[in-house]
This record gives sequence, C-alpha cells and structure tokens, in this order.
Amino acid sequence: GFYVGTAVAGGGHHLEQDYPDPFTSDRKYRKVLGRQFNSVSPENQMKWEFIHPERDRYDFAAADAIVEFAERHRQVVRGHTLLWHSQNPQWLEQGDFSDEELRAILREHITTVVGRYAGRIQQWDVANEIFDDQGKLRTQDNIWIRELGPGIIADAFRWAHEADPQAKLFFNDYGVESVNAKSDAYYALTQDLLRQGVPVDGFSVQAHLSTRYGFPGDLEANLKRFDALGLETAVTELDVRMDLPADGKPTAAQQKQQADYYQRTLSACLAVEDCNSFTIWGFTDKYSWVPVFFEGEGSATVMTDDYHRKPAFHALRHTL
Ligand code: XIL
Repeated sequence: GFYVGTAVAGGGHHLEQDYPDPFTSDRKYRKVLGRQFNSVSPENQMKWEFIHPERDRYDFAAADAIVEFAERHRQVVRGHTLLWHSQNPQWLEQGDFSDEELRAILREHITTVVGRYAGRIQQWDVANEIFDDQGKLRTQDNIWIRELGPGIIADAFRWAHEADPQAKLFFNDYGVESVNAKSDAYYALTQDLLRQGVPVDGFSVQAHLSTRYGFPGDLEANLKRFDALGLETAVTELDVRMDLPADGKPTAAQQKQQADYYQRTLSACLAVEDCNSFTIWGFTDKYSWVPVFFEGEGSATVMTDDYHRKPAFHALRHTL
C-alpha cells in the first residue's frame, strides 16, 4: 500500500531538442526505472503543451508509452497535470477565446485526457501551483483563474472525477512543505471545497529542496494537518539540489547532508497515516532538470550521471 515513484524523463523537455529521449533510448535508464519503483509520473508527457499541442489535436504517444510500461512492470501512475499556469501550448495562451469557449476547452481537455486513462491512473495532480508564495491565488499568470475566476478549480476536480471516479484527485505545489502562508492557503481552500462536496482527495508537496534553504523541519506536522482533514497526502517531486564546488563534484559532507534530507522527507511521509505515495523527480543526475533551472546547483538526484548510487539512494533503501 505504499508507493515509491519517480518522474519519467522524456517527451521533449528541458534537455536539448535533439537529445535522445531517455525513456526510449537508454537501456540502463529503463532497467532502473522498471526495477526500483512501483509508481511513475510523466515528467512532461501529460502536460498540455505535449499532450494537446493544437486545439484540435492531442498527442498521446509518449504518455501511452509510459502507462503501458508501468502496467508491464506492475507500477501505478501519477497523472501530471490538468490545470496549471505553465507549459501550456501557445494556441491556448495566445488564443482569443470567450469565457464560454475557454471553459469548454478545459472541460474537453480534462474529459479527454482523464477519460483516456480512466482506471489506470492512481492519482491525478488536478490543480498544480495555483497559489503564489504569499498564498494568493495566481490571478494573473494562471489563464484559467484569470479568465474564469477561482470557481474553475472546483469544476476541474468535478470534471476529472466524472471522467475517472477511481482516480485520487490532488492539489500539488512547491514551497508548501512547511506550515506557511502558501500551505495555509491550501488548508483553507481544501476545507472549503470539502464542505461543498467537491471531490478533492489529496494534498501533495513537490519537495524540490535545496541545501541552501535548509530542511523543512515541520513537514510531518504540516502533512498531518491535511491528513486530519481526511485527505491523502503525498510527496510528488522530491529532489535535493546543492551548490556545486568548482570541480562539479559534491563533497562527502554535501552527500551526507543530501542523504539526510531524502531520508527525513521519506520518514515524514511514512509517519503520516495516509501519506501513501512518495515520488522523486528523476533518479539520475543525467536527466535532472535542476542544473538547467537553478544556476550553480546540481547533483540533486539519488544516482550520478553514470547511475552510481549515492548515499541518498542507500538512505532511502534503509528507511523503507
Ligand atoms: C519540470 C520538468 O522537470 C522539466 O523537464 C520542464 O522543463 C519544466 O518542468 N513543478 C512541477 C513540474 O510541477 O512539472 C516541474 O517539472 C518542476 C516544478
């Protein structure tokens, strides 16, 4: 009943355009992916810009391949994501739609994508990153909230539930590991939606951690307050980045600190009754998004570029 997952790289992402897709071209990658995990999350392949590249065209190839791989390896899948401000196709962001059209577009997308994989997705990140760090709804950069108002969030959950009544439906965000303004906003919103009978099943923390900012020591307490609302909780995108020394190689002390963060995150989840899913955002530095997105930082996953197991890998194994 406990799932240990990873993001599956590929489908076109932060890696250079002509970089071979690890999922289809790297045998070692597929072997580790199939062996070490019982849950997988498409890192990009179910995002709007990949799965719905034109208004009247969906591209399910990469997402299908992951779901099929997962089934062959008796893994579950976390679907990611349906309502987000980022990685939306141009036709959507630049389009000139009436409110009614936009609402129909979202409804059709959710019905089509969730419906296609109905019964085969354990958890869906229905709404991703809807609050800013001050705990304010993203009324500017999130097209759905900006154009249609906050009520669209509840609708997204209702439509997803109609399309796949078995899938557990989640709110997902970064920077909500601790009790803070942003996680407080989710705490208030989920209570409100539950009172209204909106089918919200879970609250998940991405956990993109950095040794620059220290470990969120109240992670367990924070997850527990959502657990107490009757929600499932999950860790969905754990990685632990660090400032790399000039030679690019983390010191032994850095590796130890990283292992400690990984272990404490897993322990926090294990200590919470309904924290049933723990996912790392990739398992090898070879394909990690971190060096591309965070200047000077790296080595954030549990294996080196050549799949050497780091102390963090062993720390997770010992904790499980
Ligand atoms: C990242 C991917 O890892 C990159 O490949 C992509 O270029 C950008 O998005 N929060 C999320 C994830 O919910 O979807 C993001 O994934 C990381 C932050």
